[in-house]
Amino acid sequence: MTAGTHEPGSRECAPAPRLPGRHLPWLGPLPAFHRDPVALLRAARERVGNAFSFPLLGQDVVFVCGPEAHAEVFEADEAVLSPREAYRFMKPVFGPGIGYDAATPEEMDAQIAPIRPALGSRNLDAYARVMEAEARAQVACWPAAGEIDLLAELNRMSVAIATRCLIGEEFHRRMGPELPRLYHELESGVRLAGMLSPRLPIPAFRRRDRARAAIAEAIGEVIAERRCRRPGDEPAGLPGSASAGLPGCVSGAVREQDMLAVLLAARTEDGRPLPDPVVTGILIGMIFAGQHTSAVLAAWTGVLLMRHPQYVPRLRAEQEEVWPPGSRLGTGALHRMELLDSCVREAERLHPPLILLMRKALRDTAIRGHRVPAGSLVMISPAVAHRMPEVFRDPDRFDPSRYGAGRCEHRRPYGLIGFGGGKHRCIGLAFAYLQVKAAWSVLLREVDLWPAESGYAPDYSTFVPAPKAPCTVRYRKRSAEPS
Ligand code: HEM
Repeated sequence: MTAGTHEPGSRECAPAPRLPGRHLPWLGPLPAFHRDPVALLRAARERVGNAFSFPLLGQDVVFVCGPEAHAEVFEADEAVLSPREAYRFMKPVFGPGIGYDAATPEEMDAQIAPIRPALGSRNLDAYARVMEAEARAQVACWPAAGEIDLLAELNRMSVAIATRCLIGEEFHRRMGPELPRLYHELESGVRLAGMLSPRLPIPAFRRRDRARAAIAEAIGEVIAERRCRRPGDEPAGLPGSASAGLPGCVSGAVREQDMLAVLLAARTEDGRPLPDPVVTGILIGMIFAGQHTSAVLAAWTGVLLMRHPQYVPRLRAEQEEVWPPGSRLGTGALHRMELLDSCVREAERLHPPLILLMRKALRDTAIRGHRVPAGSLVMISPAVAHRMPEVFRDPDRFDPSRYGAGRCEHRRPYGLIGFGGGKHRCIGLAFAYLQVKAAWSVLLREVDLWPAESGYAPDYSTFVPAPKAPCTVRYRKRSAEPS
């Protein structure tokens, strides 16, 4: 059964129960939701069940949980449950008419379509080399032992990786030192207040707009240069850079095959190149979708491994086996790292970077027999769903073996939804997993890490909850160990 198949008003179609408790008019449970949405929704699910409703900032929210409900939401007709209408607050990031602000679902699909090959297996092998090079370069900057802010380091790494693989070397060279701050301001400008209006005159939104303008201007200049360039005019890659491995690369000179190159080569249905603002908006949208989320997933992977150090010797043995010292890191080796893969998957399950996914009901409909009136915001939470004991045995426990033969808990359709599901499932999943695994392959090999604090609680003040800052860890380079 999919959303929309119930006749609203029929006897089987009752409204979802109201979230119990006294809530503020119009604001609803906003203070508790703002403090810790996952705790609020988990507690409510335990008391009320897998579907309930509540007001939030003047909207009626219908929250649903469980693989069957997820299936109905992810597979719903977009004329009934619309992601574009739910995420319109992203318009200042993507730009007018782009991504979630496209005029129709078909137009949004057409904008995303050209990117898919750029994230496909042919390019991933070259991206893996950029990922390895950036991870090694990052570690090389650290003294032999000391303390680092793990999230900040992984974030810098993922800024460089996303920029080089998606936008290109010239942009990275031109903007490099500026980028972590600009991306941070872009990302920090997407917050709950945007559901009211993403144009509210608040400092975070002003910083977001300034950051977007600076990034867009620099991308615009790179686009102009590339459009003017004659074949054979390719710039040399960074000296000693991993970009020499990007596809299309000939003897030290890079013929760009980053996502920008793919978008510049793309043609509309009537054979015209994509307009520059569309190319710019898609690139900024991809950076937004994939850069910080990947860094956060990598940081949670590290926190979990430090909390469960008994896995580290096995992970190192796996590294030795599939990625022999002296060889290059490629997708083949990364795919064979099964234990590391399961550890990253546990990070996705226990700490999904996106904790809330949304759809706007454009018509009266029903989910799992609960009436969903037109205008409601339908909400799903990977963070709540991943702790369902009906789906994941002993769900609060870090247990990479749950994905192994005989259990395969991730195979249950719409159970593990850290990257969404159905038609709008994340197109960057393979890229993100590759990046997190490449980062941890290098880190496991090169450093020993210990927690420097007991906390590492999620920071729910941001849209993509990372471990609270500073995420301090102690390390020692393995090359510095007395033999
Ligand atoms: C750990 C990293 C990432 C996480 C956790 C993540 C998560 C998600 C989720 C949950 C969705 C579905 C949203 C929904 O249905 O409401 C999604 C969609 C999407 N993601 Fe990711 N993502 C990540 C990395 C990336 C990367 C690296 C890229 C691109 C380079 C990317 C591009 C996209 C795009 C374009 C969509 C929209 C797809 C569509 O609507 O058809 N993501 N992502």
